[in-house]
Amino acid sequence: MVAPVAAQLHEVMGEVRARTLKLVAHLDEDQLTAVHSPIMSPLAWDLGHVAAYEDLWLNHRLAGQELLRPGLAELYDAFETPRAVRGDLEFLRGAELLAYLDDVRARSLEAPVRDGGELHELVIRHELQHTETMLQAMRLAGLEPPAFAGPAGVAGSGLELVEVPGGAATIGAGPEGFSYDNERPRHVVELPAFSIGRVPVTGADWTAFAEEGGYSRPELWTPAGWEWARDVSPRMGAPDAPIVHVSWFEADAFARFHGARLPSEQEWEKAALAGLLEGTYEVWEWTASEFSAYAGFVAHPYREYSEVFFDKGYRVLRGGSCATHERIASPHFRNWDLPQRRQLFAGLRIAR
Ligand SMILES: [Fe+2]
Repeated sequence: MVAPVAAQLHEVMGEVRARTLKLVAHLDEDQLTAVHSPIMSPLAWDLGHVAAYEDLWLNHRLAGQELLRPGLAELYDAFETPRAVRGDLEFLRGAELLAYLDDVRARSLEAPVRDGGELHELVIRHELQHTETMLQAMRLAGLEPPAFAGPAGVAGSGLELVEVPGGAATIGAGPEGFSYDNERPRHVVELPAFSIGRVPVTGADWTAFAEEGGYSRPELWTPAGWEWARDVSPRMGAPDAPIVHVSWFEADAFARFHGARLPSEQEWEKAALAGLLEGTYEVWEWTASEFSAYAGFVAHPYREYSEVFFDKGYRVLRGGSCATHERIASPHFRNWDLPQRRQLFAGLRIAR
């Protein structure tokens, strides 16, 4: 008999896999294997990588078995194989890819569940995060699933601010339950009073910025942002929905245009936990903060999840997006990317 925790995890794994396959069900083999962007993997690579990661963590590391197909380990290792070269590889495709996903899964259902299913949860969330990355690639290629809608509308303007009193804020995830290493340890910071957008900046707010010269005034931009801005077209979006697919450079310039700034990630978390923010989890929200370790950080379960990205110029995004599964969305979750990236389902909220 399968223990209740294991049965529950296996059910979730099944639901997540069905969701993953549904997201690509409308695509043909060429669309699955093509390189849609130099910064994104072919979708079929992502699918094979999801299976390889599951085999590594549940069947090899946890259950102590040989990898199902050791010859694929390097091909599907995200660090050995940077995105830029993934299109040139002989990654699995077609029926062989589906069989690999199924064969790994059949073994995983026999793996022991330890520490409350921590590694199972890691594997589940890894797949959910890859489906968001895959949606980014589909969006860049204009290949979103028919049912996929962008961010839902919000009432009002991102220029309306709410006040947050100064004082202590508890930041980060507690010791219980599943969390990523970079969300720990929980700690207290003192923050001066600030104000923050009640809702994210909307498409209407953004159009005004673009039409009033936001993209042509160098004083609004950081030097690197200004360099970047010369080669891009202004972003446009639905007037009543949060603006989406803007870079950190653009978000930062937008805030300066309004005599404001981006919130720090601590400010965002404090305001989110106090229930002051509306329209959260529609778009990732860029913050002013650079991605770095909380004091007392311990890498877990591997250095490459977070530690190798600390203090390398990545900016933190908070919240979640219309492409993020609810299992991942949390006020503690820290996403990160480079300031020039526009492929994320990312917008912003301003602060003062
Ligand atoms: Fe991955």
